[in-house]
Amino acid sequence: MSAKLILGTEIREQILEEITQEVAQIKEKHGKVPGLVTILVGANPASMSYVTLKIQTAHRVGFHEVQDSQPETISEADLLALIDKYNKDENINGILVQLPLPKHIDEKKVLNAIDPDKDVDGFHPVNVGRLMIGGSEVKFAPCTPAGIQEMIVRAGVETKGAEVVVVGRSNIVGKPIAVMMVQKGRGANSTVTVVHTGTKDLAAHCKRADILIVAAGVPELVKPEWIKPGACVIDVGVNRVGEKISEKTGKKIAILRGDVDFEKAKEIAGYITPVPGGVGPMTITMLMLNTLRSLKYKLGLM
Ligand code: GUN
Repeated sequence: MSAKLILGTEIREQILEEITQEVAQIKEKHGKVPGLVTILVGANPASMSYVTLKIQTAHRVGFHEVQDSQPETISEADLLALIDKYNKDENINGILVQLPLPKHIDEKKVLNAIDPDKDVDGFHPVNVGRLMIGGSEVKFAPCTPAGIQEMIVRAGVETKGAEVVVVGRSNIVGKPIAVMMVQKGRGANSTVTVVHTGTKDLAAHCKRADILIVAAGVPELVKPEWIKPGACVIDVGVNRVGEKISEKTGKKIAILRGDVDFEKAKEIAGYITPVPGGVGPMTITMLMLNTLRSLKYKLGLM
């Protein structure tokens, strides 16, 4: 048996189309479009390419988008002042500060300075608290976990009563997705176990999973024999394991591997996400959805 692939690249297109249509409707009725600012400090190549993609996607769905690039040497005080400016800007509904920040800047201080009602990354402690409470309290779920949940729902995988095992306990993926899957409601109501580097028998837990969500950052950590036949496997890992020459462009590109041995796992799982092309494209898509939500809250539409 070969698993059904859950493709982020396809689901992204559906959701971006839905967003584009809703943005056009809101513009016609209310004369407003969602505004997103991305703040990039320095010139980290990976951050630059992420930010470019975020801005291109925002443009594609009809948002007002601002790319604010600042030098590596910007002081913490100046960066905080910049955030304050966008907190007060009526045309901006979402503020994203691309991480990581240079060492002389306190990342926590910067993230905490963003107005929680414009925190479309969902990283502010207020939004983390709202996520924990659940239900209508949630304004912005963090983008990668939100993308994972959306993929599971759109693939038609039953979550109610499912045994969900999350591998990894990061603040960006592991902990929030565990909280989201345990809540009542759509794409949730699951029984959740979080396993991590302190877990005694990783394999035994994974083998019980109807839905296995792996965000460990260790290439091919999850072995095929740890997967329950028919399970839904969501691989969040993006590990650079080498370089190759692209057949399309002739340029050097990274060889990427997930946290799961995909080739063997797909013969056992019922559903699986590939790397690349699985969870990755969903993160920016959910950022767009959060920015749209932010405007809708402001207009009293949700
Ligand atoms: N750097 C890598 N991923 C992310 C993300 O999702 N949000 C922000 N702000 N920075 C990142």
